[in-house]
Amino acid sequence: MISERPPTPHELLAFYLEAGVDCALAEEPSDRLSEVEAEFVPAPQRIAPLTTVPAAFPATPQPDLAPAPDAAIESARELAPKAKTLDELRGLLEQFDGCALKATATKLVFGDGNPQARIMFVGEAPGRDEDLQGIPFIGRSGKLLDLMLAAIGLDRTKAYIANVIPWRPPGNRDPSPHETQMCLPFIKRQIELVDPDIVVCLGKPSSQAVLDLKDGIMRTRGRWFDYDTGSRTIRAMATFHPAYLLRQPIYKRMTWQDLRTIQAALAAATKT
Ligand code: URA
Repeated sequence: MISERPPTPHELLAFYLEAGVDCALAEEPSDRLSEVEAEFVPAPQRIAPLTTVPAAFPATPQPDLAPAPDAAIESARELAPKAKTLDELRGLLEQFDGCALKATATKLVFGDGNPQARIMFVGEAPGRDEDLQGIPFIGRSGKLLDLMLAAIGLDRTKAYIANVIPWRPPGNRDPSPHETQMCLPFIKRQIELVDPDIVVCLGKPSSQAVLDLKDGIMRTRGRWFDYDTGSRTIRAMATFHPAYLLRQPIYKRMTWQDLRTIQAALAAATKT
């Protein structure tokens, strides 16, 4: 039987947590259902009969709408190549309002590590810890990424790290294809400006977006791909995302193989 009593605050919070809600987007709650009702004003009040339309029809005040997603993708594609430095690119992202994720994120998570590094790692999108501090990969999966780097003699002074999406999706939901397309020109320009010899995509969403692959990570990991930065062709590899390895440690062995391959390629590139 369904209980008649209203849920206690504790029960409500437990329900939210289970539904994946782990952050507040505003100070006050917002009743989205009443907003929808307000939009459905009965037709006669909204559409004046044609005979009574005044000569100078008063302009209807428009709310501040974000650009339509396709227009935003177009504007991202035009904007990103204009950045001549990483600082300029960060500035462009700070001003870019095309992606709704910016409104719910705490901070822009642009990049970390050495911008002169010869190797760059690209993740998917920031999580809660990254959002709070504005630095990629500093939460649990970041700690594992640091261990993965250390295993092949790297750390953040010798590698550069960024994400396809620089703003945290609310509740860590998957970014939508539109959001990914919107952010893609910026991460591509970031790769071009860092100009590494090797780019490593962490996980399926990153490898599919950056390397334009259709297959999943099981098929694509550990293989070399050519990546055209716009100014030259470099080598790229996909491997497992550290967050996935935390859930599926069995794949650490394959990741180790990928890391060894990457280490050898980096060493060979140093000699030439
Ligand atoms: N996962 C990512 O893909 N990026 C981060 O920065 C953190 C977790």
